[in-house]
Amino acid sequence: MPKAPEADAIVLFGGAGDLALRMLFPSLYFLDADGFLPDGFRIIAAARSALTPDAFREEVREAVIARAQPTAVDPDAWARFSARIDYRAVDATDPESLKAIVEALGDARAPIFYLALSPSLYIGVGRALAACGLATPASRIVLEKPIGRDLASSQRINDALAEAFTEEQVFRIDHYLGKETVQNLIALRFANTLFEPLWNNLTIDHVQITVAETEGVGERWPYYDEYGALRDMVQNHVLQLLCLVAMEPPSDMDADSLRNEKVKVLRSLRRFSRHEAVAASVRGQYAAGVAQGQAAEAYETERGAASETETFVALRVDIDNWRWAGVPFFLRTGKRLPERRTQIAIQFKGVPHSIFGGAADGDLIANRLVIDLQPDEDIELILMNKAPGISQRGMRLQSLPLSLSLLKAYSGPNARRRIAYERLLLDVIVGNSALFVRRDEVEEAWRWVDGIAEAWGEAAMAPKPYPAGSWGPAGAFALIERAGRAWSD
Ligand code: BG6
Repeated sequence: MPKAPEADAIVLFGGAGDLALRMLFPSLYFLDADGFLPDGFRIIAAARSALTPDAFREEVREAVIARAQPTAVDPDAWARFSARIDYRAVDATDPESLKAIVEALGDARAPIFYLALSPSLYIGVGRALAACGLATPASRIVLEKPIGRDLASSQRINDALAEAFTEEQVFRIDHYLGKETVQNLIALRFANTLFEPLWNNLTIDHVQITVAETEGVGERWPYYDEYGALRDMVQNHVLQLLCLVAMEPPSDMDADSLRNEKVKVLRSLRRFSRHEAVAASVRGQYAAGVAQGQAAEAYETERGAASETETFVALRVDIDNWRWAGVPFFLRTGKRLPERRTQIAIQFKGVPHSIFGGAADGDLIANRLVIDLQPDEDIELILMNKAPGISQRGMRLQSLPLSLSLLKAYSGPNARRRIAYERLLLDVIVGNSALFVRRDEVEEAWRWVDGIAEAWGEAAMAPKPYPAGSWGPAGAFALIERAGRAWSD
């Protein structure tokens, strides 16, 4: 396949919105400051409000300054960056209105159209871009998750976009794939000989994936109430993490090699029947409580009405393939939990026979690999060790972590944790799709998630309340304890 030309412009629809100002503009600024943006690359924000380009640049400047803290924004870099920015007030679904974008793009030949908009607008914007001649073969379109609310709606969006753009031109973002630590999972598994021979059901007992957030839903409820934790987090971020842990080694880092392996994992996820949904999943919704030392309102109070939307999900998932048969994956994600933590814990099996006998047996703990993705980036391998000293009861054992703190290893005066979007925006500019989600991947994930949502519906499983600031409903503990395991908190 011929290599895609480097993009020469980006049009950010929803360019004055929260995502654009908090993430996209600062990311583009940092890329520019580090010399990654092509010469002459233009940035056009498109939104509904009537703003002058100067007033808009000022908003961007404030957003960049806030994001760059504690470092300062370099005046030369800012001058170069702000000269790239333009602003147009448009209705993105109206081809007539998009003429303003055609004009602003001028002689740009390979523009990126970034839809930082509600998914309900994707089809309309895709069609409007095609109608005014902007969907040229050299252009690219970027979509944020969620792509639809279920398989049928995601297929409608994908079909409509496919009328104007080829699959290679569509970049579906899951920002977790832009996180350094998430990519590090690929390095950990496939750049070391150590783990791969052990990475299977002969040695691994089970896997846990936790994506815990302390924040509540707050003002985002109009979006969130329609989606809930299953569709907002599990369908995308959590399943992407699961895929990277569970996939077979891809033949190379090529976009299709990597994504083929992820799709195979998604196809191997065991579907939930109504009966299994009750036994293997937990839905929760936060009630009032204390979060981070402060009184926190219930989700329903924020929303202003009763709701059946879950803000917490725990699942026991089985992957029906040779590598993982018999190894349960326990997943949980939720809002208003006691701490922010994204963690993957690989629990190995115990030794087949203990030679230590007596008291030491009780100390013998099976090895565990704990990969902390955020807030701290850390990889710990829990190993058994002889506790120092002598004892009449024989050798005392103790578990200790072999720790690889990425923060310490890579901290330095100029170290800055990159925003996930920096990597992803650069990849769109150069046309590398490896860290983007392919159509079949999104659809397989929906197929599986739809099965859970349907089973919940059939079993009339309403979310169970949990106090804000706790680790979810009691059922989440029972779920893992029934399988004879415990969350690795
Ligand atoms: C988004 C979800 O995709 O990811 C949010 O819509 C969630 O609900 C966010 O808070 C979490 O992202 P991060 O990078 O803060 O872990």
